[in-house]
Amino acid sequence: MLRVLCVLLVLVAAVGVALESHAQPAADPLAPGITVYRTNYCGVCHELPAAETRGTFGPTHAGMGATAAERLLDPAYGGAATTPAEYIAESILLPSAYLVPGYATSAHPMPSFAHLPEADIAALVELLLAQ
Ligand code: HEC
Repeated sequence: MLRVLCVLLVLVAAVGVALESHAQPAADPLAPGITVYRTNYCGVCHELPAAETRGTFGPTHAGMGATAAERLLDPAYGGAATTPAEYIAESILLPSAYLVPGYATSAHPMPSFAHLPEADIAALVELLLAQ
């Protein structure tokens, strides 16, 4: 748990740096996240038009930036995140912190991806935050 929280803090800092460094025009800043998303088969369970996936076992990732902000306002939210970026990182690293309503008894629960390199998690957070 402590390790996950540490990773979470580092990630949020990393996403901040990544967002700044994308101030100059460059190749699609979300491309690394799309690669990580596809490589880890997130799309088997999630719909994400940007990655052309149509999974239905989990909630859609279309509009995930706004959804993350809404989740934080849910009185049932009991995780440690205070920003949408933190919520997305927490969802990936520690899915049990908050279960999206309707998915608590899913036969295909969200696995933790805490084993991924921090750069990969940061790329996923940046991608999903921008949806
Ligand atoms: C086996 C199916 C499955 C896979 C694979 C999977 N997820 Fe999930 N995911 C779920 C389910 C089910 C939920 C809803 C329950 C919960 O909140 O944990 C969820 C929830 C989420 C949420 C919160 C969504 C919301 O609306 O609040 C995020 C973010 C997320 N997943 C990201 C990912 C990413 C990124 C990957 C790949 C690295 C991934 N998921 C892989 C099933 C999956």
